[in-house]
Amino acid sequence: MNSNLNVSESAFLVNEFRARNEAESRDIYAKLWVTDKTREIAKRYDEQVSPHALGVILGIRNRYFLACLESELRLHPDLVFVNVAAGFTSYPFLVNGLQKSIEIDFPHVIEYKERKLKEFQDQGKLPFRIIRFLPADLNRIEDEERLSMQLKHEIAVKPSLVFMEGLTYYLDSKSLSRLVTLFSNLQTPGSLLVLDAWASARETEAVCSRFRKFLADHLNYPNIRYNYLDVPDLNRLAAGRYEIVELTNMLEKEKEYLGPASKPRSERFSDISLVTLRKN
Ligand SMILES: C[S@@+](CC[C@H](N)C(=O)[O-])C[C@H]1O[C@@H](n2cnc3c(N)ncnc32)[C@H](O)[C@@H]1O
Repeated sequence: MNSNLNVSESAFLVNEFRARNEAESRDIYAKLWVTDKTREIAKRYDEQVSPHALGVILGIRNRYFLACLESELRLHPDLVFVNVAAGFTSYPFLVNGLQKSIEIDFPHVIEYKERKLKEFQDQGKLPFRIIRFLPADLNRIEDEERLSMQLKHEIAVKPSLVFMEGLTYYLDSKSLSRLVTLFSNLQTPGSLLVLDAWASARETEAVCSRFRKFLADHLNYPNIRYNYLDVPDLNRLAAGRYEIVELTNMLEKEKEYLGPASKPRSERFSDISLVTLRKN
């Protein structure tokens, strides 16, 4: 089985959890992407990995990224929004007035998403939005080179916002570094790149080894060490091209969004960083 196909299954899975936690995620369209197979896998996830963690994490994560999009769009009505490894996220549909969205993911994900979007829009379940889809395997240099050419005319002259959500730990570190270089070469000064990252401390956590085993058992994703990013790694990634304007974590955002009285509902949220970089 192709592990690329199966890491993409994680894009279905996250929608089930976002849909369950709509109040937190604010993704009112996530439920459209939930299939019976996804529900079945999510049920096993609850039993085998953690009953609450992913729902809370994804709700908070989605809300953080959505807030970035909303505030950048208020500042720059001509914003170009680029969602790298977009999966089945709904961002262009959750805001009004976005002139240009670009989504990048594996070809099979893009093909499926384009087809289903059309179906949902024809059925009146989703509003119409103009999205340019760019298929790519982000671990392939040739695909990155092609992306660079395709994106040049889109983001080299306008303020842009780039998301890398739920991606950095799946990419090998060289590919991630190349990708950040690609965007830093193209984005205009002041433009933002937002990502989430896992600290290396997660590697030894029980929930993380259960997660890795789950992906290996159910999604055929290799049970290998993920690409963790600690603060020095994030500094290295940004150095000379971006300034880190926000480095926070899921625990902080959980407190902010859900109120100080909310008890953290999962293991070690502080190991998951939410990072906003601003192009120098
Ligand atoms: C956990 S999902 C996250 C999707 C979405 N960003 C979200 O937050 O819901 C990981 C996404 O990364 C994509 N992905 C992982 N490795 C990739 C690669 N090498 N090239 C292109 N896309 C990749 C998968 O197809 C999937 O859509």
